[in-house]
This record gives sequence, structure tokens and C-alpha cells, in this order.
Amino acid sequence: MSDVTNTSEWQRLAELTPAGAGLSLRAEFAAVPSRAEQFTVRGADIMLDFSKNLINDDIWSALVDLAAASKVGERASAMFSGEHINTTEDRAVLHTALRLPADASLTVDGQDVVADVHETLGRMSRVADAVRSGAWKGATGSQIRHIVNIGIGGSDLGPLMVYRALSDYREDLTCHFVSNVDPTHMHETLRQLDPAETMFLVASKTFTTQETMANANSARSWLLDGLGADAGRETAVAKHFMALSTNLEGVTEFGIDPENMFGFWDWVGGRYSVDSAIGMSLMLAIGPDEFADFLAGFHDMDEHFRSAPLEQNLPVVMALLGIWYRNFLDFETHAVLPYSQYLERFPAYLQQLDMESNGKSTKLDGTPVDHETGPIIWGEPGTNGQHAFYQLIHQGTSVVPADLIGVVNPANDVGGQHDLLMANLFAQAEALAFGKTGEEVEAAGISGVLVNHKTFGGNRPTNMLLVDELTPRTVGQLIALYEHKVFVQGTIWGVNSFDQWGVELGKELARGIVPELTADDAPELDHDSSTNALITHYRHTRRR
Ligand code: F6P
Repeated sequence: MSDVTNTSEWQRLAELTPAGAGLSLRAEFAAVPSRAEQFTVRGADIMLDFSKNLINDDIWSALVDLAAASKVGERASAMFSGEHINTTEDRAVLHTALRLPADASLTVDGQDVVADVHETLGRMSRVADAVRSGAWKGATGSQIRHIVNIGIGGSDLGPLMVYRALSDYREDLTCHFVSNVDPTHMHETLRQLDPAETMFLVASKTFTTQETMANANSARSWLLDGLGADAGRETAVAKHFMALSTNLEGVTEFGIDPENMFGFWDWVGGRYSVDSAIGMSLMLAIGPDEFADFLAGFHDMDEHFRSAPLEQNLPVVMALLGIWYRNFLDFETHAVLPYSQYLERFPAYLQQLDMESNGKSTKLDGTPVDHETGPIIWGEPGTNGQHAFYQLIHQGTSVVPADLIGVVNPANDVGGQHDLLMANLFAQAEALAFGKTGEEVEAAGISGVLVNHKTFGGNRPTNMLLVDELTPRTVGQLIALYEHKVFVQGTIWGVNSFDQWGVELGKELARGIVPELTADDAPELDHDSSTNALITHYRHTRRR
């Protein structure tokens, strides 16, 4: 596979790199008064102002040429039509089919995918309605009031993030999310709950993930102990456990009635699965109608991505800017800074989406990449971050491109605080872009060594994403925007964004270490001297 670095479009960008590195946003804005307008695009209900990036006309058109040369559109069509673009696992990549309307049609590998998706959605809705209305009773006749989603990675981060984002839409049920195999996570969650009123959702695509199965087993013991023998073991599990999985055999073996299993398909990657049955906790919390709206939001963005020209296509624009920074200006990290408390888990969600997808160094054909790939994604909600790490973003030696995300109309406005929040958002973007020169500092009466300390270099790039309102629909749009951004970057880098072989080695080694920690007699250890010593120390120090 020829590397993208050999293309004339890449070479052109390399030639433009010094201009980008030395670009002054003050000068660019002064020279082109319409710059903000020129570099603002809309897709679905999201507006992106990308004018405060280190680009000029030449750089921007060279980036768009790179997308065209990388055949982003063709690969997107292959994905949407169900081709097996996940070549290392020989699978289609069809999370976009999860949000197709019921009257759409898509047949993949001989299967009517849309009919399957809507059949599952129908079953999920019926059960969600029954639990929400109280018609579904626990084994002792109580109404279910608490949902505990047990899952990790994509089977946790998506539902948890969206549950928080849509807290305002939540009705009576309270959801809890247990992911960590650290028993403390389960313990701290269960100690507040009454088994008679608790429903567990075991969320695991494979139904083999060590952490999730350990937590699911503990939850089952807690439930059976708590309900007592009278409830009956089978009734208790049937009334208090559901499975969200692709593994019918594993689910049945665990003891969950297949009637209480909501399936999905191998063409849904874990980190792309919040809009599948994995979103059941969310449907229980916000109801089937709002969940349908959530899916419609994804579909809005899918349609935008499929139809908008490259230079006005939100996911493409964000992907190209990321490539510019990662590959040409050598910026290693990318911050996501939502100015919305409801989006507090969005950066964590994007860490998996982006880093598990594009944190790769092997191309689709198995050869090593000749260029950098996925950046380190991190972030926290503004304004909290401002009082923590923004110092480095403003004046540190690393440049951190950032996505600033704002919601124009708040769900709650207490004491006019939303305007204060938004003022901070706009002020940060302005300060990062334009800084404060030494002359300006001096003009404010500062002199001597303090001048340098109080100078801001500016030219710190940001995207400004504005959403009119945070609703199920716009949250769906926002997620799909980033899914497709990651897809475009993976396409340009020539990597498979849909496998995750890098998480396997640690899992395999942990399986071998468990018996070495728990054996009664000291086992013979043949790891390296550091790992051997750590295991020995643990065995000596661990109280049982
Ligand atoms: O370990 C990584 C991973 O495979 C993720 O890709 C996935 O989202 C997570 O584990 C959970 O997997 P599962 O849903 O099969 O339990």
C-alpha cells in the first residue's frame, strides 16, 4: 500500500508547513475581514467556526485536496453499503445502519439489516415501557427503580456519557454504571440499592470480557443473597437480569433468559455501539420516543457526512485540521473542552472512540505507517479546566489544539449563569487565538520582567462547536460527527479504525497472572525480574 506521505497532496502540505507554523491569526483576521464567515460550516444542528485555526487559503485548499486524493467519499460509501472494510476481522462496519429509519432498506451478506435493527428496537421499547410503567415487577413483586449497567469500554462509556448528557430527560428510573473490575466500584454502587428494586443489564458485545463477567457474577450473588431463597433462583435472574450482547450462547450459559437478551451484530464495534442494544439503560431512562430521536440525530449527521461537499463537511473539516496538526505541525495531543456540565464525560467517551480507533502503527496492508497517527485525546468541562490546566494551553511550550463545545440554549439557567459560562467560552477562544502582546502588556502599565510573564503568544488553535440546544437528537449528531471524523482520519492514515488488537496482550498476560496471585503455594515465576518481584511483594503483603 503506497503511503499517503508519497502523494503530491501530502508533499504540498509539507511545503506549506513553515507558513502554518509561522501563521499569525491576528494578521490573518486583519487581512480578511470575512474570515469567520469563510471558515464556518453547519451540519445538522451543529455550527462549527474553524476560523481560529492555523490555516490560510492555500493550506485549507491543500488539506481539502488531500481528502479528495485519499478517496474519503469512496471509502465512506463502502462503509455505508456494508463492505467488509474491517479487513483484519473480515467484518462490515455498519453502525450507521443502527440509525436508519424503519422504511430504509439495506441488505448485507444476504441479511435485511434494517428489519433486524428495528425488530430489536421494537423489543427493547416494549420491555422499556413495561419497566418504566411499573408493569414489570421484580421477583418479590416490587417495581424496578434502579438500573445497573455492567459493562466496560464501549459497553459503558457511551451509555454513561449520554445518560449524563441527557439527565434532564430522565424520568423515574435511576441508572448506575459499573465498569471497573475493582470490587469497590460494585460495592459502592450496590450499597445504596435494594435488590428487590434493582435490574442489572449485563452489557458486553462478546460476553467474555473478564471485568464484566466478574462484575456480573458478583451482582448475581448479591441479588440472590439479598432476595433470599423464596424468590427462587431462576425467577430472580429472569426478573432482574437482562443481557445486551451478540453472544447468545454465553448469555444462556450465564442463566439469562434469551427473552431478556437484546442482540446486535458483529458489524457494530464496541466503541460505536451506544446506539445499539448497548443503549438500553438510556432507553430505560429517557424512554423509547426520546431514544428514537437520539438515533435520528445520528442519522442527520450520517446524511450530512454522505452528502456535503468535502470543504463544508463537518467531520471532514475537523479530521483535516487534526491531520494538519498531528502530521505537519507535530502537535501530539488534542483537547476536547465542553462548556456544558451535561457533557462532562464526553472527553472520556472520545478517548476510546478516537484512541482505540486510530492509535495504530500498522496500515491496512500490514506494513508500518510512515507518519504519525491518532493524537492523545484529553479534556474536561470548561470552566473547570480553566482553573486547572489552561495555563499550559495558553502559555506552555506545547501547542494543544482544542475543540470548544458550547450549547446556546441551556436546559437550566440559574441566576443568569449560562451567559457567564458562554462568555468564558468565547473569551477563551479569543485569548488563545490572539493572545496579548508585550506592547499591550506594557500599555497596561506593566514593566520589567513581568512583561514576559504576562504576555500571551496567541496562535493557539481552537474549533468552536455550537449546538443550539442539548437534546437527544443533538447529542446523537455530536457523537456521529466525531465517529465520522475518526473515520476520515483513519482513511487518510490508511489504518483500520475498527479493530483493537492493542488491547489484547495485557488481557492475555493478566489471565496468566491471576493464578500466580491466588495460588496457596508460592508458584514458580518466570516473568522478568520486575514482574516477578511485584507478584512476590503482593503475595507477601496481601491480607486474606
Ligand atoms: O478491551 C477493549 C474492548 O474490546 C473494547 O473495544 C470494548 O468496547 C470493550 O473491550 C468491551 O467489550 P465487550 O462489550 O465485548 O465486553
